[in-house]
Amino acid sequence: MAKKAKRTIVTVSGVRLDKYKGDMLAVGLFEGAKGLPAELVQLDKTADGALKNVLKLGDFSGKANETAVLYTSGKVGCKRIMLVGLGQNGKFKLDGLRQSAGTAARTAEKLGVTRLGLAVHGAGGVKLSAEQAGQAITEGAIIGRYDYQEYLSEAKDNGRKDTTMQVTIVEPKASAVTGLNRGRRVGMVLGEGQNYARTIANKPGNEINPPSLAREAQKLAREVGLKCKIFDERKLSDMGMNGILAVGSGSASKPRLIMLEHKGRRTSGARKAGPDVVVVGKAITFDSGGISIKPSEKMEEMKFDKTGGCAVLGIMRAVAAMKLPLHVVGLIPSAENLPSHTSYRPGDIVRTYSGKTLEVQNTDAEGRIILCDALAYAAKMKPKAIVDMATLTGACVVALGVHYAGLFGNNAALKSELEKAAQVSGDLVWGMPSDEGYFAEMKSKIADLKNISNRKGGACTAAAFLGDFVGDVPWAHIDIAAVADTDVEKPYRGVGATGFAVRLVMEYLRSK
Ligand code: BES
Ligand code: ZN
Ligand code: ZN
Repeated sequence: MAKKAKRTIVTVSGVRLDKYKGDMLAVGLFEGAKGLPAELVQLDKTADGALKNVLKLGDFSGKANETAVLYTSGKVGCKRIMLVGLGQNGKFKLDGLRQSAGTAARTAEKLGVTRLGLAVHGAGGVKLSAEQAGQAITEGAIIGRYDYQEYLSEAKDNGRKDTTMQVTIVEPKASAVTGLNRGRRVGMVLGEGQNYARTIANKPGNEINPPSLAREAQKLAREVGLKCKIFDERKLSDMGMNGILAVGSGSASKPRLIMLEHKGRRTSGARKAGPDVVVVGKAITFDSGGISIKPSEKMEEMKFDKTGGCAVLGIMRAVAAMKLPLHVVGLIPSAENLPSHTSYRPGDIVRTYSGKTLEVQNTDAEGRIILCDALAYAAKMKPKAIVDMATLTGACVVALGVHYAGLFGNNAALKSELEKAAQVSGDLVWGMPSDEGYFAEMKSKIADLKNISNRKGGACTAAAFLGDFVGDVPWAHIDIAAVADTDVEKPYRGVGATGFAVRLVMEYLRSK
């Protein structure tokens, strides 16, 4: 039987650390700290010096996300205390707090803990507001505990029937409780939005195809209260969305353009004005490369080529849940890129939605083809900004590695807002160029544009291509090819889809 997603419920309690009653209490410690921080002295005393002892023995150094579990002897409310390393105090950032909470929740999950206390923020010298801390801890716990288990006959749930985890942020300082709670409420929505995006992205290509992704979007819209419009292959043909249609032409599952809309109250007066932001996400439900077929090694990872679109679903879910006072539209062009006798081919010339003609030189550079139709459609709405997310190029993986997504765009202010949001959210981006020189490389001799250049600067030429379809609307493009999924487990995060960009774009939207 398919396993239900695990629920993580976070609350805040003003109880003393040694009085918190749960299965485990996690506390944070900096690397090389001399003695215990004031916040932990009382807990250590009640625990008969167990914390000091571990430090004295040298069994725990406080390196980032290192853990040690101690067993207490009845006087402390919790039978287990977990020490979580916060790394060096001087290098500590908000994401360190998010990670330490994730590490605690993930480790607790593996031990079968269902009631987890988190006091990872009380290590002395954490210079963050209670609100920021509450949000980051909550996000970290929800994201950290997540694993995709839908198809496991025996889920790794320690045989429990109820897989809910009750996480309590323990904060004895009464003055901090309100702030922590405010942050916690935001963190719940963002963590859950991100995990929702991960679950859809983790689903395999035989379950998620363009029509089933569209049904998923409709279901989401009903549940959270969004407007949803689906353009099927006939509608796409009427509209002249021949880019999306070409890419999807090889598959029996026909392409879709999914539109979700949230009209927050700030815009209700000015009905004629365009949306504040259109978020666009590439959703190739499987990218075989098409006729320009990919090598078979790791081709299974191309089920993650829909991750940009899944991020849009997660973002719109969170936007609706928070009732953001903005007008936000989510656009998800979706197709399956397969070789068959009906596929589009290298050499084909396609008239895209914008009217511009496109020479297809490689059917594996398909993301930009579906996106150019969606971006042109987005620009027609005259929004104040467009932000797109796409697993667009292997070149971006080579350029930046797995720690940053590539950030491109035509507007310095928008880029800098996203860079700021990246620092707060922990979804890191790095600015890259995509100006005229790159665009010149995308001109075809027999059509307006072609879909590949040479191999050099492939992420930049791809971005320059996209930029030609947004007119003068402020636009940013985030190439998430390297960060959308991972096969490396971390103490604070499992493998598979990461849900990258949900927190990033939400932070950007919330700070508007
Ligand atoms: N979906 C891929 C990009 C990709 C590669 C994502 C690796 C994640 C990991 C995209 O559609 C693609 O195949 N791009 C080609 C473009 C090339 C043919 C110009 C690429 O990057 O090799
Ligand atoms: Zn491709
Ligand atoms: Zn692709």
